[in-house]
Order: sequence, then C-alpha cells, then structure tokens
Amino acid sequence: MQNLLARSLKYHGGQIFVLDQYLLPHQEHWHVCNSVVEMQELILTLKVRGAPLIGLAATLLVAHLAEQGLSQSKLAEAINDLEATRPTAVNLMHCMKQMRQALAEDNFVDALVATAEQLFNEDIALCESMASLGAALVKPGDNILTHCNTGALATAGVGTALGVIHHAHQKHGDIHVWVDETRPLLQGGRLTAFELESWQIPYTLICDNMAASLMAAGKVDKIFVGADRIAANGDFANKVGTYNLAVLAHFHNVEFYVVAPITTLDIDCESGQHIPIEERAESEVKGVSGSFGECQWAPNNAKVFNPAFDVTPAHLVTGWVLDTGVYNLQQVKDGALKQL
Ligand code: MRU
Repeated sequence: MQNLLARSLKYHGGQIFVLDQYLLPHQEHWHVCNSVVEMQELILTLKVRGAPLIGLAATLLVAHLAEQGLSQSKLAEAINDLEATRPTAVNLMHCMKQMRQALAEDNFVDALVATAEQLFNEDIALCESMASLGAALVKPGDNILTHCNTGALATAGVGTALGVIHHAHQKHGDIHVWVDETRPLLQGGRLTAFELESWQIPYTLICDNMAASLMAAGKVDKIFVGADRIAANGDFANKVGTYNLAVLAHFHNVEFYVVAPITTLDIDCESGQHIPIEERAESEVKGVSGSFGECQWAPNNAKVFNPAFDVTPAHLVTGWVLDTGVYNLQQVKDGALKQL
C-alpha cells in the first residue's frame, strides 16, 4: 500500500500509526496497530474516533492484513468484526461494504489495497469540497458555535464542520468560534480547542449548558456540526447534545447547519428513528478520565444513562452542507438526499 498521511492516521513504511485522541492535547502518542483486536480496542476507547476516521482506520487495517497474507476467510471475519465495533457512524459500514466487495474479486489483495487507498484519498477530497461550500455561508465577523470534534483529527482531510470553520477563517480572517466542551468525553474541550489553537483561529471554550444564554444574547450567528449518520429524510445522528443546540437555534432564530460527506448518508435508513444509538459505560458520566488522570465524583451506585449520540430532526436544520452542494429543507423534503 502507498504511504498515506492524515493528522491522526498514517500508513508509513508498511505500518499503520494512529494518534491517540484520548491522550490529546497533553500527550501526542502514536500507536502502531497490527491486529483486529488492537484496532477494535482503539476504536472502542475513542483513541481512534470521528465518523470518517473510524471507517478509514478499519479499512487500512484490512488492506494491511491482506498484504500480510491473511486468508480470504480470515479477512471476511476481520471485516465483520471491525464493522461491529461502533454502531452509529455509518462511515464504518460504508467502508467495510466497499472492502467486502473488493474481497470478492479474484485478485482480492490488490483490490483491497486499491480500495483502501481510494477511500482514504477520497475523504481528503470530500472534506475539501464541504469546507469550500460551507465557508461560502460564513460572513466576516461571524460568531460560530460548534459541538464535539469534527476537524482534521476526525477525518483524513481538513474535517467536516471544523473544516468549514478552517476555510472560513482562511477566507475572512475575522471569525470567532464558540467551542462546546462536549460532555461526557470532552471532544470539544480537548480536541477542537487544540485544533483551533494550532490553526490560530480565535475561539472561546464554553460548557455545553452555556449555549442557550449566548444565543439569547445574540452572540451566536451560525452553528456548524458534523454527523455520524444522515437518514434519507434528512434527520441525522451526531454527538449527544447536538439536538439541544438545534432546538435552541430554532427558538433563537440562529442558522443551524450539518456538514457531512456522502459517506455519512444512509439512504436505506428512512428516518432518524431507525438510527442505532450507541450507549457507553457509566464511568464516562460518573466522572472524567484522560491524559490528566481519572476522577469520579458521582456515588459508586449512581444509575447512569449514557447515549453517545442523539438525533436531530430535519425540520430543525437550516442546511445540509455535503460535498455535492448545500441543500435546504425543501430540497431535502423533495428527496434531494435520496438522489445522491
Ligand atoms: O464519539 P465520537 O467522538 O466518535 O463522535 C464524533 C462525532 O459525533 C462527530 O461529530 C462526527 O463523527 C462527525 S466528525 C467528522
């Protein structure tokens, strides 16, 4: 396989390296990943995270194992096991479907490698298109709010929602970003703040429950978020807390955009009701952990509900910024997404 380079995933000298996103921003530690079990652990613990990146990391591993001589049946097993790692982000299923098709070919090793390279390079191009299309919606001086982490760490390219912010900053200079810290796992506070800082984009970190009063005070012009799965009717799943923002945006008349590549569309999924939502460990809500250590504040026996994602209904969305264009609610109601 050719060398491939992204901010948090690379294939170099015949090995796969992944940047540990759980330890960022205080430690930059790269893992070498050689097996399905290792990759599953990296994905489950969110060391590898973000809808496009999860799919690409699993894809590189399958191609790598094929090059190492794993049998066709073992590769089929690997694809199934990797696909089952996290249920909500459909990019993983999309990538594994492409790899399953490549595996069915006579020359399956070459086919798997070519497919992996193509999916990786395609993601870079998709990010670029979304970022340019979305940046055109931003005006100089805009205050933009974003949730979770949707940047170069979460994709092979510049990112989805954060890619838009990156390109808008390059275009206009004077924008400012409100960063939701994104409880429980703090992808905003840890990763988005880190990326904006490295891009020298002015930002202010807030707790998730501060967004309402900011909107009431007229301090948010636009919201850009990513997606883990967009249903055919435009409903979409994204990091838990996204739906709160959409409701608040509707109430306060703030433009609310979802930014995602075609690989996040699930046309077989009729509406948001059918999107499987991952539930995660109680410990994530009872306290926090990361490169700074571990801390639990809730009582040991506290009962916890911890869905990792929520679903935003299409009627709360101002626009869907995809790599193919920006679609409004009427276009989505008329079936625009089903035609892509
Ligand atoms: O649980 P995570 O950190 O993988 O969740 C990530 C998100 O919800 C992102 O918003 C989404 O994957 C889009 S990233 C390009």
